[in-house]
Amino acid sequence: MNIGVLSDLHVDLNNGQCSPSVEDALCSVIRKRKLELMIIAGDVSNHYTSTLDTLTRLERDSGIPCLFVPGNHDLWQKDGEGAESGSDDGIGVDPYQELLAYPHNLGNGPYLIGSDWAVVGDAGWYDYSFGDSSFSEEQFRERTKDERVWKDKLYVRWGHSDREVSDFFYDRLKAQLESVKNRQVIVVTHTLTHREFTVPLPNEEWRYFNAFLGSEKYGELIEAYDDSVRYAVSGHVHYRKRIMIGRTEYMNTCLGYVREWRCGADAVAEVEAALQTIML
Ligand SMILES: [Fe+2]
Repeated sequence: MNIGVLSDLHVDLNNGQCSPSVEDALCSVIRKRKLELMIIAGDVSNHYTSTLDTLTRLERDSGIPCLFVPGNHDLWQKDGEGAESGSDDGIGVDPYQELLAYPHNLGNGPYLIGSDWAVVGDAGWYDYSFGDSSFSEEQFRERTKDERVWKDKLYVRWGHSDREVSDFFYDRLKAQLESVKNRQVIVVTHTLTHREFTVPLPNEEWRYFNAFLGSEKYGELIEAYDDSVRYAVSGHVHYRKRIMIGRTEYMNTCLGYVREWRCGADAVAEVEAALQTIML
């Protein structure tokens, strides 16, 4: 089985600046490579309704299951910027819960492939463990450094501390891993599970902002289950990188923003360059 892996599609920001649309480009690459399953590791758009619409269309047009975990952008709620004009998002709406309406959201539980494999996953969050330890907990909690604000602070309303949210996803991931430990497993998160994928230092700004990329604990969890975890997929940093760590292959396969693309505005070429394949 050929499985495609891609994240950070950012369709609302990219479409209009590229051709064809990101969704159409992805469907044509899925057909060309004869993929049978797609994994999308978050950041489809800046609003859960457009993320849900995009995922539903992608599955319909590609004809294959598109597994998904939410990214931080999918969870944003910007006042007055709903996907439909006049929407009053933000009042009593929890985008994380709303996104569970998509049947292939891995937050609903593991996706089993035959009798040997399973895909597990969820959004993940951050607990500052990838930040430089010279900053205090208080400074990280501010999510602001020299005028620059980490936007989740403004647009994601968990009602809990980052650490609590990070632990919430740790517990959910652990429960999923435990339930499929007799299978070979692909773990999918949006945030990072390993320090290897943080922004390299020295970099004064990222010495601080790496704190908001993921959690060391997720990598420790993957290591604890390395009898079964063969692949660990993440997104978030807009990298394209694939490395073996211990017995697990870690992959970050982000499409990212058009301004970061290497193939100009040619969405098909860029999706071809970014999309990685897992062959089972
Ligand atoms: Fe992103």
